[in-house]
Amino acid sequence: MPPTSLHRQVLDNLHLAVLVLDSQMHLRYINQAAEILLEASGNRLRGLALRELLTEATQPGESALHHPPASPLPFTKRQAKLRTRHGKELLVDYSLSALTEDGTFVVELSPLDRIRKIAQEEATSAASRANQLLLRGLAHEVKNPLGGLRGAAQLLERELPDPMLHEYTSVIISEADRLRNLVDRMLGPQRPPVLQPINIHEPLEYVARLIRAEATDGNLRLVRDYDPSTPLIAADQEQLVQALLNIMRNAWEAIALGDKLNNARGEIILRTRTLRQQPIGATTHRLVCQLELIDNGPGIPEHLQENIFHPMVSGHAQGSGLGLSIAQSIVHQHEGHIEFQSEPGCTRFVLLFPTIEPRSSDHNGR
Ligand SMILES: Nc1ncnc2c1ncn2[C@@H]1O[C@H](COP(=O)(O)OP(=O)(O)OP(=O)(O)O)[C@@H](O)[C@H]1O
Ligand SMILES: [Mg+2]
Repeated sequence: MPPTSLHRQVLDNLHLAVLVLDSQMHLRYINQAAEILLEASGNRLRGLALRELLTEATQPGESALHHPPASPLPFTKRQAKLRTRHGKELLVDYSLSALTEDGTFVVELSPLDRIRKIAQEEATSAASRANQLLLRGLAHEVKNPLGGLRGAAQLLERELPDPMLHEYTSVIISEADRLRNLVDRMLGPQRPPVLQPINIHEPLEYVARLIRAEATDGNLRLVRDYDPSTPLIAADQEQLVQALLNIMRNAWEAIALGDKLNNARGEIILRTRTLRQQPIGATTHRLVCQLELIDNGPGIPEHLQENIFHPMVSGHAQGSGLGLSIAQSIVHQHEGHIEFQSEPGCTRFVLLFPTIEPRSSDHNGR
């Protein structure tokens, strides 16, 4: 009984991954959420035995998933660790139940990693909102007297009879300006983004040119791996440039530092992809633009990793530790998501942005 187009639409819009199996436990149908989980298209997987698609990480080959359930009641297992044929590990609740008497089975997989991730993201964004409030209050308290100090130093400068003494007032003025700039940077973007449809490759190429100009010693290779069909996103080009520049500049700084240590050639990979049915926070978007910025530098020091997006967290003596905190607040203002993985030789920042839906959307999308 093949699914009708309405059934297929319903199944493809579920968050739950659904696999329908024949009596031999071979795949007959797979919905979109399951395709995303298994990282393969249904066309490739149809006809394969379930044991070829998923193994239970703790007990290979012996999973209850691979045998028809003994009772007509659904078999359910919570917090099972499964491994896909690509080696990806999944933490899921699953259930296996008979769909029809002639031996058609349905497997439902509910990924738990995502729920955990949403909870983590909510906690992080609550913390960064609290930080922002604190910073705003502090900035206000610092900027007001600073304006007064600066003004008074200017007046004093005019009154000072001896020009030699101007050296002192100009120190006051330039230090007041430095502090003001720091406070402004700490506050992040001062205005809400002005959203326009843009192609992610435009700000990306702009930033690549800036980094190329900064890396004058020629020891940096920029590798572009673009998906030219990536749909447009609604973004503020100027703010996006700022966010990407902060991430890429860190990568280049780390490479330049690591370069001194191991003399390897630095590389930053710029990769774009389009993801389907991808969650960002609690919302699942039909099409999402994914941007990866991967460098082969020495990696983010482990003791910094947990708080890397917090303001004033820096691994450099001269760093203000604001670059990533600003990048994160820009990405969040664009309803996007930013995360990273880092180990020596591979640091990968991943940015996700919802795309602008084409007008006549084909919800079947196949
Ligand atoms: N790609 C990377 N590779 C290695 N370390 C990194 C990378 N990106 C960030 N870091 C580490 O994270 C720290 C914080 O980065 P962030 O951009 O927030 O601040 P910063 O670079 O120190 O100062 P600035 O405000 O000037 O950007 C860096 O100091 C660096 O130690
Ligand atoms: Mg930085």
